Amino acid sequence: MADSLEGTVALVTGASSGIGEATAEALADAGAAVAVAARRVDRLDALAGRLRDRGSTVLVIETDITEQDQAETAVERTVAELGRLDTLVNNAGVMLLGPAQGAPLEEWQRMVDLNVLGLLYCAHAAIPHLLRAAESAPRNVADMVNISSVAGRVARAGSGVYNLTKFGVTAFSESLRQELATRHVRVSVVEPGAVATELTNHLRPEVREQSAKRFEGMEKLEAEDIADAIGYVVTRPRRVAINEVLVRPTEQDA
Ligand SMILES: NC(=O)c1ccc[n+]([C@@H]2O[C@H](COP(=O)([O-])OP(=O)(O)OC[C@H]3O[C@@H](n4cnc5c(N)ncnc54)[C@H](OP(=O)(O)O)[C@@H]3O)[C@@H](O)[C@H]2O)c1
Repeated sequence: MADSLEGTVALVTGASSGIGEATAEALADAGAAVAVAARRVDRLDALAGRLRDRGSTVLVIETDITEQDQAETAVERTVAELGRLDTLVNNAGVMLLGPAQGAPLEEWQRMVDLNVLGLLYCAHAAIPHLLRAAESAPRNVADMVNISSVAGRVARAGSGVYNLTKFGVTAFSESLRQELATRHVRVSVVEPGAVATELTNHLRPEVREQSAKRFEGMEKLEAEDIADAIGYVVTRPRRVAINEVLVRPTEQDA
């Protein structure tokens, strides 16, 4: 990585599995102290144990970021216990696909609550701390990385509300990027294609089957591939902002 993250602090939401877990590992290996946040604290503790064995500083935060006060507390605990916040990776998300007609409204609510509102609560609480980090050594730059998706660029039948949330993440990220650019807080959006994680475990069985068919025989990305892209984004020199990264499996055509 171009610039080490030594002396910096990162908060990763949704760090108990998949992309978030791999990202926490990558940032810790680059020298950051890492706060790992999610609801499944047993998974976070296991991750923290592995990282501490490698010499990293890790703070485990059990949180449901769809609750505004819990999202704010996650950010405030990171700053109180690790001293600052240089990097926020807004990764926690859920993808509940299926036709709009007759869809359980509860699924739509869960996606909006987490992918949109949860991300916004974390972003809102983090902005003052990121601005402060950007004014100080060691890097004089700070990062917010928001995880959108190919689904934030291309809408498909059966994916409407997930598309809505991820298009929203992309739009919010670009607006916030413009707002914070001159103050050296870089706001980036990372848009993965299909990654082999637990994301599809939450689909209804009939929808899951259809989703599996779509990617049958295709080699999906690994969570580490996206963590690698995020690591690249946040270790650029202060003058370089990677605004948007779209990463598909080589064989994914749409
Ligand atoms: N996998 C893909 O193909 C793909 C493609 C494009 C974009 N993405 C995006 O990548 C991000 C990570 O997904 P993933 O693929 O790594 O899936 P994943 O393994 O299911 O990870 C989702 C993470 O979100 C956390 N989470 C869920 N609800 C939460 C809540 N209320 N509060 C706090 N954390 C919560 C989960 O932890 P707990 O359950 O422990 O809370 C988990 O750590 C998501 O935003 C997803 O939309 C994934």
